[in-house]
Amino acid sequence: METLKKQINDANSLTELEKVRIDLFGKKGTLSKEFAKLKDVPGPEKKAFAEGLNKNKAILQTEFDARYEKLKKEEIENLLKAEAIDVSLYGNLDEKGAYHPVMATMDKIIDYFVALNFAIEDGPKIEDDFHNFEALNLPKNHPARDMQDTFFFKDGAVLRTHTSPVQIRTMLSQKPPIRMIAPGAVFRKDYDITHTPMFHQVEGLVVDAKGEISFANLKAIMSDFLHYMFGEVEVRFRPSFFPFTEPSSEVDISCIFCEGEGCRVCSHTGWLEVLGCGIVDSNVFDAVEYKDVSGYAFGLGVERFAMLLHKVPDLRMLFEGDTRLLEQFR
Ligand code: DAH
Repeated sequence: METLKKQINDANSLTELEKVRIDLFGKKGTLSKEFAKLKDVPGPEKKAFAEGLNKNKAILQTEFDARYEKLKKEEIENLLKAEAIDVSLYGNLDEKGAYHPVMATMDKIIDYFVALNFAIEDGPKIEDDFHNFEALNLPKNHPARDMQDTFFFKDGAVLRTHTSPVQIRTMLSQKPPIRMIAPGAVFRKDYDITHTPMFHQVEGLVVDAKGEISFANLKAIMSDFLHYMFGEVEVRFRPSFFPFTEPSSEVDISCIFCEGEGCRVCSHTGWLEVLGCGIVDSNVFDAVEYKDVSGYAFGLGVERFAMLLHKVPDLRMLFEGDTRLLEQFR
């Protein structure tokens, strides 16, 4: 009896105790073997023998239960100790996050236009064909639709490929004059060192009475804006094509890395393309039923600006969530 008790109390974990339980109380265990002897005990002694066995079984069971309670309690205490969080500990300030460089660049861009009284407009990221293409003078089968690698939904809706649809939404819901920017995420099937499937643009639109808005206005404001963003750079307007503007222009700044000498970043041209703009095409005004107006529009990629401002070699780094990148912007 004492060895059996000792066996129970020598178990130092719940797993060990479980083994003891099987040894003692299991079907083929010590107690079962003792009870099996009952059949060989002579008749008159059977009762006393059985009573003795049952008494011992009860004693062992009590011993076992006590041991179980003790070990269980210890296990819970150990677990609590191991998982304890000392909320009074001083935080690790080295691992603080940072404002994302893309958002910081976005804010800087927005600040400029807000100071010039531009309103901030917003639109849905899931767009329909009309707002994303049709009303922007990109009719079905127009080859210019190929310029944008679109994510289509089964029902024909799209993830907006640019922020230009916000121009349409704003004109459809407001009367001229309009003076707005539309910052936000856009989506295209693209993935390489200068493209990610999600990126951000800032769109701009200014509309006023016919004859009020000229290319000279556009040129002045874009030049001033680019000097605000990049400091002492040269600004160059290059004739280009966009379906929603006519005439259209792409705007370059002298390379901020080599100052126009020619380097890898500017593909040895000395110039960096930074935005697209133009005079709003009359077809766009027709689509929103604006009459006797004139206007200019522009659009730019925020990541491209952030990349240039912070010399980020691979655009994809901005979205990998690696804290080592963010730490550099604290
Ligand atoms: N939507 C054009 C794009 O995604 C950018 C753009 C160019 C917007 C010229 C404009 C514009 O408003 O006038 O590439």
